[in-house]
Amino acid sequence: MRIYQAHDYHEMSRKAANIISAQMIMKPDAVLGLATGSTPLGIYRQLIDWYHKGDLDFAEIRSVNLDEYKGLSADNPQSYAYFMRANLFSQVNIRPENIYIPNGLEEDIEKECLRYNSIIRGLGGIDLQLLGIGTNGHIGFNEPGEAFETETHCVRLSQDTIRANARFFDSMEDVPKHAYSTGIKNIMQAKSILLAASGEAKAEALYQALCGPISPAVPASILQLHNNVYIVADEGAFSLFRERGKRIG
Ligand code: F6R
Repeated sequence: MRIYQAHDYHEMSRKAANIISAQMIMKPDAVLGLATGSTPLGIYRQLIDWYHKGDLDFAEIRSVNLDEYKGLSADNPQSYAYFMRANLFSQVNIRPENIYIPNGLEEDIEKECLRYNSIIRGLGGIDLQLLGIGTNGHIGFNEPGEAFETETHCVRLSQDTIRANARFFDSMEDVPKHAYSTGIKNIMQAKSILLAASGEAKAEALYQALCGPISPAVPASILQLHNNVYIVADEGAFSLFRERGKRIG
């Protein structure tokens, strides 16, 4: 595990974007596993900037998103498909046919999960998986307590996650209760993983993920077993390491 500390969100975003751009330069048709949420916004802004400067090319890149709310269509502004279009895809030269996101409108759960797993397999697996971390230690929408062996599945979102994500909706009641998410098994099969975290709200989750026991109670703790993980987090997210006398990196 390679751990990089950044001063703040801006620096965290640049460092994480550097790791993604290195992957894209080394393998122009890389399969990137992408995430939504507040954490990757700065990373995506940086990648867009480098794309506009001619330093990055998305022409052959394939992308597989981690998750999507069940029940939301791709043109619903709260959907993750919409988020990805607004915050990355519409601003770079990725080909629409190379973009994969679970279909939130598919009612047949088994069918959608099989479809998505076979897409990932058909692409030859994920080269670099970008992850944020939930305040409860979730990665993707793999909530505490779920088995580590799962592939794409339909998740009932925990109250913690519904509360945390309510900021993007008019009220907590509007947050969908279910989502399609790739599983821990899909994530662990990625050739490399980049987990980004920012702010003190993530400090306990990050501390437990990296220093605590490996347990489904903290889904991100499984990353301790992957042999090619980058952690990029800022001082806020690492604050408990200092307080508890743990070395970073
Ligand atoms: C998003 C995802 C989630 C988020 C996590 C952190 O696609 O899979 O696991 O990465 O909830 O969200 P933010 O970055 O908004 O704090």
